[in-house]
Amino acid sequence: MKLFIINGPNLNMLGIREKGIYGNQDYDSLIGYIRDVCDDNNIEAEFFQSNHEGELVDIIQSAYKNADGIVINPAAYTHTSIAILDAVKAVMLPTVEVHISNIYEREEFRRVSYVSLACVKSIYGHGFEGYKEAVLFLKEYIEKAEKR
Ligand code: DQA
Repeated sequence: MKLFIINGPNLNMLGIREKGIYGNQDYDSLIGYIRDVCDDNNIEAEFFQSNHEGELVDIIQSAYKNADGIVINPAAYTHTSIAILDAVKAVMLPTVEVHISNIYEREEFRRVSYVSLACVKSIYGHGFEGYKEAVLFLKEYIEKAEKR
């Protein structure tokens, strides 16, 4: 089983940006953490991070026929991007949306998530652990779908 793990803008600044919200650990620590979870569960993972909306669309499109599922934190594009929503719909892969912070307990403008409309699950406010939950959820979801 192969998953694409996609992170959007400013997540490469983890460990520097707004530590009170996103914590002290950097992007490489996040990737290391998710990689360990995937290794422990026999999941192949490919990691992507981009600050550019169109590039994120290209990455999502490249998952078509190359991945079994997607974990995505579109960061600020969550709240604005119909293009990312449409890309996730286009590839028809089970997708889980993750946010490190609880987007529903912050500013009003963060309460809208376009991508959630194409996701089988949304996880928010669980820090890095949210990515682990997403990977394990997708593993079970994809295995169940394969049995059908
Ligand atoms: C975020 C929440 C978004 O509102 C914000 O723009 C981010 C990160 C999160 O992981 O909590 O950059 O997606």
